[in-house]
Amino acid sequence: MAIPASFKDELIARSDILDIVSDYVTLTPKGGSYWGLCPFHGEKTPSFHVLPDRQLYHCFGCGKGGGVISFIMDVENLPFLDAMRLLAKRAGMEFPEGEMDEGNRRKRTRLLSLNKEVARFFHSQLVSPVGQAGLDYLRRRGLSKQIITRFGLGFAPESWDSLLKAMAQKGYDKRDLLDAGLAVSNQKGAIYDRFRNRVMFPIIDLRGDVIGFGGRVLGDGTPKYLNSPDSVVFNKSRNLFALNLAKNTKLGRIILTEGYMDTISLYQSGFDCAVASLGTALTADHAKLLSRFTKEVVICYDADSAGIQAANRAIPMLEKTGLKVRVLRVTGAKDPDEFLKKYGPDAFSRLLDQSENYVEYNLRQLQSNYDLSDPVQKTEFARAGAEILAQLDSPVEREVYAGQLSEITGIGKSALLQEIQRVRDIRLRTAKKKQTRREMIPVNQIQPKNRQLRYENPRSARAEEGILRLLMLDGSLVSQTQGLEPSQFSSPVLGKIYGILLGHLSQGRSLQLGALEGELEGEEITLLAHILGQPVAMEHSAAAMIDYRAVIEREAMRRQNTNDEAVLLAARDTYRKKKSISQGDG
Ligand code: GTP
Ligand code: MN
Repeated sequence: MAIPASFKDELIARSDILDIVSDYVTLTPKGGSYWGLCPFHGEKTPSFHVLPDRQLYHCFGCGKGGGVISFIMDVENLPFLDAMRLLAKRAGMEFPEGEMDEGNRRKRTRLLSLNKEVARFFHSQLVSPVGQAGLDYLRRRGLSKQIITRFGLGFAPESWDSLLKAMAQKGYDKRDLLDAGLAVSNQKGAIYDRFRNRVMFPIIDLRGDVIGFGGRVLGDGTPKYLNSPDSVVFNKSRNLFALNLAKNTKLGRIILTEGYMDTISLYQSGFDCAVASLGTALTADHAKLLSRFTKEVVICYDADSAGIQAANRAIPMLEKTGLKVRVLRVTGAKDPDEFLKKYGPDAFSRLLDQSENYVEYNLRQLQSNYDLSDPVQKTEFARAGAEILAQLDSPVEREVYAGQLSEITGIGKSALLQEIQRVRDIRLRTAKKKQTRREMIPVNQIQPKNRQLRYENPRSARAEEGILRLLMLDGSLVSQTQGLEPSQFSSPVLGKIYGILLGHLSQGRSLQLGALEGELEGEEITLLAHILGQPVAMEHSAAAMIDYRAVIEREAMRRQNTNDEAVLLAARDTYRKKKSISQGDG
């Protein structure tokens, strides 16, 4: 994205991280940094901190970290450019819209209009003779003609190239279809339609643009559902099926389901407030998105164990955004779609009214593991129940649910409240201890959280981290690394960051974390924030640079030697094999 580097650097210089984070988090100074409750995960003691001198934030609890742009991206749930726009507005700078990469914007627009054409094509196929089987299928599943139109459902013909051909006529080439995930290419380079012989569910975002598709087989084939892959216009973890409709509901809540069919069935039965995730688990971004449109979410997942597990994961995520969460259990059917067919909308309405809030839900889940007629198990259940209720921050809520727990177990409410308080006290103490311990972990014990970024050579990586940290704090130290190449770094990601720093230095650009953010992926920024957040003694920096460099060069040399040896060994093996083959032949 071609935003002028000078604009970016100035924006970073004018966007002080302490100012900006303070808009969202109450921060208290402590020893050169500022501490507060992390906005990205629920916590009761602060493990989130801001280092103004390094212009970074980092959370010891959830591991998130970065500069000012990634902070805005995460906290406002915005893509990179929109985060820059927001910061520009705040800093009173005009965002150079005109100079932005035209190509990129054009691609987005092109893929969106392609998707719209494709949705039209699939729909026209569904109502033509070619799509008879698809239409029969949907009708058999009880969908009315109106609903099929309302959701723009369609049919992908059983053919390798009918979509490619139809879109070619509209002026789109294979590249466009590949980029939109509508076509795939095999190893031989042949390009063909991704969706074949499936009923198609277009996925429409809040602006009304078609951003992707889900396709279901007509019978029992696999995969049952095939979804568009993420693309320039499609991000599964930030979009929900049918939210474009559900956002206008008057029902005062949103029903979260697992499947497209569940959502559509609910809609047809008058519950115009259902959404579904896009074949992936619910994410924190989804939760944040939902909280923009409603105050209450009713989780209505499948009745099987996978559904229960998914609900258990979703509850805390939704809770964290301040949403009221209820859990609806379908009984006598495997999912909401089947339930509606068997028992009708009124029965579903009753289920909805009876849906439990998440505390009741958790308690009941727990209870199913114990036999309450056994006094020992009953006591254990009460203890475990107290653990759940100890998570409630409101004393009123603790009081109410302790009452319920008391009724179930026959154990006195005040004894239960005492137990709850005891658990809370222990938690508070361990949380404090953990935090002090985390603050003291030496650098060399830390590996990046993301497995793909794991260090192969921790010794060299530590020195590489050291060089990055010192360079970012004092660019003039680059004189100590003259001739040290990114390729000598043992860790590809650290080498990449080093290369970017060298680039910035040679152009006289800012080395602040914020100024690097557009050039790094999310995980890489987190890692870099972590590295940069480590303590450092600047007075010995030049000597430290020399030491670090020596370690890196020595380790690179060692790798090179092992590599050479491996090459020699491989060559010898090949030679021997050839020899034995030729001897065998002869
Ligand atoms: P049917 O009623 O059988 O059509 O499906 P459903 O809507 O009840 O969906 P199901 O409970 O089987 O799955 C829930 C959701 O998970 C679906 O809507 C899809 O988004 C996704 N899903 C299901 N099967 C697959 C699969 O094989 N591959 C992928 N990628 N996603 C799937
Ligand atoms: Mn189903």
